[in-house]
Amino acid sequence: MTIRTLAAEEVADDRALGDYTLGVFQSLEHRASIAKVFISWLPAPGHYLRIWDGYRLYRVFARVVKERARTGTRREDTLQYLIDAGASIKDITGLTTLAKFVINALFGGQVNTGINAAWIPIFLSLSPEWEARAFAEAKGVISRNRTSPEQKPIDILGALTLDSWQNDFPVIDLCLRECIRLILLGCPKRKNTSGADIPVNGRGEVIPNGSYGVYLIDQVHFNPDIYSEPLKFDPGRFEHPRAEDKKVPHAFLGWGAGRHQCLGMRFAKLEITIIMAYFIALFEFELASDVHGTPTTTRPPLPNRNDHFSTKPKKPGYLRYRPRSDMW
Ligand code: HEM
Repeated sequence: MTIRTLAAEEVADDRALGDYTLGVFQSLEHRASIAKVFISWLPAPGHYLRIWDGYRLYRVFARVVKERARTGTRREDTLQYLIDAGASIKDITGLTTLAKFVINALFGGQVNTGINAAWIPIFLSLSPEWEARAFAEAKGVISRNRTSPEQKPIDILGALTLDSWQNDFPVIDLCLRECIRLILLGCPKRKNTSGADIPVNGRGEVIPNGSYGVYLIDQVHFNPDIYSEPLKFDPGRFEHPRAEDKKVPHAFLGWGAGRHQCLGMRFAKLEITIIMAYFIALFEFELASDVHGTPTTTRPPLPNRNDHFSTKPKKPGYLRYRPRSDMW
C-alpha cells in the first residue's frame, strides 16, 4: 500500500521487486552513520555502501520511468505526479528536495509503519483487556454499518468510508500511540543555521550558531514523572482524565514536533488502522514462541535503545491466528 501510494504501482504489483526495494531501504537505513553526521569527511565504509544502495534504488525507479515512457503508460501514483511535474530520475532518487521527500516518505512508510503495525498485535496478545476493547470496537463499526443480514464483515469493512476509517477506531489509535511511545528510537537532530545562538532553557544555555541540537526521545517517552510505569503497554494512559501525554509540552514526540513533524502521519494512521481493524475483526490470535505456533507469554524484547534506527526485534516474534468463528 505504501509503495503503491508513495512510489510506483509497478513495484507494488511485483512481489519480488517490492521485496527487493524494501530490502534496499532497510540496508540504507542500517548503514547510516551517526559519526558521519558530525564529521562529514569521515571515510565511513557504510557511506560508500549507501551510495551503492542509492544506485540500486535508482535502477529500480529508472527502469519503471523508462518503461512508462516507452509504452506511453500512465499510472495513478506519486511517481507519475513527479514525472508530470518534470522531475528527472535523479530528482526522484537523488539528493534533491523532491528526492528527500520521496525517500523520507518511503522510509517512514516501509520501516516505521511496518514495524509499529507489527508490534500492535504482539502487545494486544498479552493484554486481554485491550484486545477485547479493540475487537469490540471493530465489531461495533461492523454492526453499525451492516446494511443486510447476509453481508459479511469483510465486505462491510471494504465499504467503509475514509471518514469512518479516520474517526471510528479510537482504540486502535490509542494502541498505536502507545506502541510508538515504546518502540520509536533515536535522537532528532537540528542544525542551528539561524545566524545567531539560540537560548534553550532560560538558564543561559544556548545552541551556538552552526551547531546541532540533539534530543533523545527517551528523555520524555520513558520519563516516570510523565508516564507512570513507562515500560508497561498501557494505552489508557492517553485517555482522559489521565492524559499523561498532556502533562507537559512535547511529552509525546512520536510524530515529531515543530516545523518538521511527520508529513505522513495521516497516511500511516490510515494504513495501520485498516490493517489492524481487518486483522482484529477477522482473526483470533495469540503470541507464539516459534514458527510452529507454540503458545508463549514471553514478549519479544523491546528494541535496543542504544540502536538509533527503527529496527525489527533481533529474535522474531510469532503470532498464532485462526479465523474468528463468531464473525463469519
Ligand atoms: C508509524 C509510522 C510513522 C512514524 C512513527 C513516523 C514518525 C516520524 C517522526 C518522529 C518524524 C520527525 C523526525 C525528526 O524530527 O527528525 C517524521 C518525519 C517525517 N515523516 Fe514520518 N513517521 C511514520 C510514517 C511516515 C509515513 C508513512 C510517511 C510518508 C507518507 C512519513 C513521512 C515523513 C516525512 C517526509 C518526514 C520528514 C518531515 C520533515 O522533515 O519536514 N512518515 N516521521
